Amino acid sequence: MISLKAVDLKTQKIETLVVPVCADKKIHEDRALNAIIQMALKLKEFKADKGDRVTFYDVKALRADRVVCFGLGKLKQIDLEVLRSFCGSAIDNCIQANLETIWVAVPAAVKLKIEAPDMVEAMMEGACLGNHTFDRYKKEKKRKPLKHINFLVKPQAAGKLRTIASRVRTVCAGTILAREWISMPSNEKTPERFTRSIVSQARKYGLKTRVLREKELKQNKFGALLAVAAGSRSKPSLVMLEHKPPKAKKTLALVGKGVTFDSGGLNIKTGGGMAGMKADMSGAAVVAATLITQARLKSKTHVIGAIPIVENMPSGEATRPGDIVRSYAGKTIEIGNTDAEGRLILIDAMAYVVKKHKPKIMIDLATLTGACVVALGERIAGVFTADDRLADAIQASGTKTFERCWPMPLPQDYKELLKSDFADLNNMPSTRWGGAITAALFLSEFSGDTRWAHIDIAGPAYNKKGNTYCGPGGTGFGVRLLCDLIQQL
Ligand code: BES
Ligand code: MN
Ligand code: ZN
Repeated sequence: MISLKAVDLKTQKIETLVVPVCADKKIHEDRALNAIIQMALKLKEFKADKGDRVTFYDVKALRADRVVCFGLGKLKQIDLEVLRSFCGSAIDNCIQANLETIWVAVPAAVKLKIEAPDMVEAMMEGACLGNHTFDRYKKEKKRKPLKHINFLVKPQAAGKLRTIASRVRTVCAGTILAREWISMPSNEKTPERFTRSIVSQARKYGLKTRVLREKELKQNKFGALLAVAAGSRSKPSLVMLEHKPPKAKKTLALVGKGVTFDSGGLNIKTGGGMAGMKADMSGAAVVAATLITQARLKSKTHVIGAIPIVENMPSGEATRPGDIVRSYAGKTIEIGNTDAEGRLILIDAMAYVVKKHKPKIMIDLATLTGACVVALGERIAGVFTADDRLADAIQASGTKTFERCWPMPLPQDYKELLKSDFADLNNMPSTRWGGAITAALFLSEFSGDTRWAHIDIAGPAYNKKGNTYCGPGGTGFGVRLLCDLIQQL
């Protein structure tokens, strides 16, 4: 639990005080604190470079049992992500030391040339997210989360910062919910079970929910979505979530790819290619978690979530390469490759959303292509949209939250790569080059006149190794980004 505390260091008894230290400038105002920092900087082993750390015990001047100084590096390099990352590492250290309660000395924002609310928000995010471990399947829970993380600020600063802790708690709970869903193994989150889990969480927080199950999907001719689901024993669904505040004007729709496991289908993946495909529902997890977060924040924006959920498996009932299906929108699609399944479930969900809800803006998130990971690496998502203002807004929220997004092109002439001799479109482009772009162009055929953006999160959705504020597994990439974006739109 994170909280903001304005207390006097001279009178407050503290077990553990964590102090971020800048290598070349004073960033704290408290005198006793600065004295300790001076002492630290005199030590050979502490230069306050990023990663440097030194602990003092029984510090009388601060009434602290221990004071841990963490290096941040030079002032010029300190930004929101350095602060987030420092808090994540600090929490990790304290967890490893088996501590329960810690206090973090918040620097004076002016000295960092960062706005105080942004600074406190980033630090709290790093702490909150770094305090989470996915250990649901471990009998012995080695990493006990900290019980209390108190952020120490001057009393004068506290007033304006009051509301931040509660927002960060809620948004990070959303990120963590997404992480847990993504990290969960596919045998425990078959489409039926994942659907149920989303609906029960969503109801708990007061979202309107509606689930279209196999029967209704058939009646309403969701041919593309059903084609992907055909090979699996588990039944598909389209989960619709709605956060509808009373006086909202604009509607924002979010669509998330929910492939609970992507074997490739009959165009089966290699062993290596299949590894990590439990995370192919990351877009779905992030959209569901974002809607829940919007409800908990009592956001004033009307947000719709559309989450198509399937498992992509080979079997005697599976869709074959060369099969032609009719999508919900009516366009026919030749399935050139059963492993290009994400676009098939997304277009049916998108077309349904456009028809039923006519949103002002529609954004889809999907672990859509390996090609996007080739283009941008594992930590940056690709943004595809013809709407420059929307692209800028997404990129800006990505920079602020460090869920980084990079604009990619949607060249109209590449559409010819999606032509089929026999159907309106082929889900498999005729070249492997530019695979992230052709996938986005395929989706664009089903966005109607809606302002639409596609975010390919194939890279950043999942962490093979952990980092400062995210352990191995799902990252929840997109929840913080979308929550910021919704606030800005
Ligand atoms: N789920 C994959 C994309 C993916 C790859 C996500 C690696 C995360 C890491 C997607 O369904 C897929 O298989 N895409 C194919 C498309 C191709 C068949 C046109 C790909 O990227 O190779
Ligand atoms: Mn696939
Ligand atoms: Zn996939």
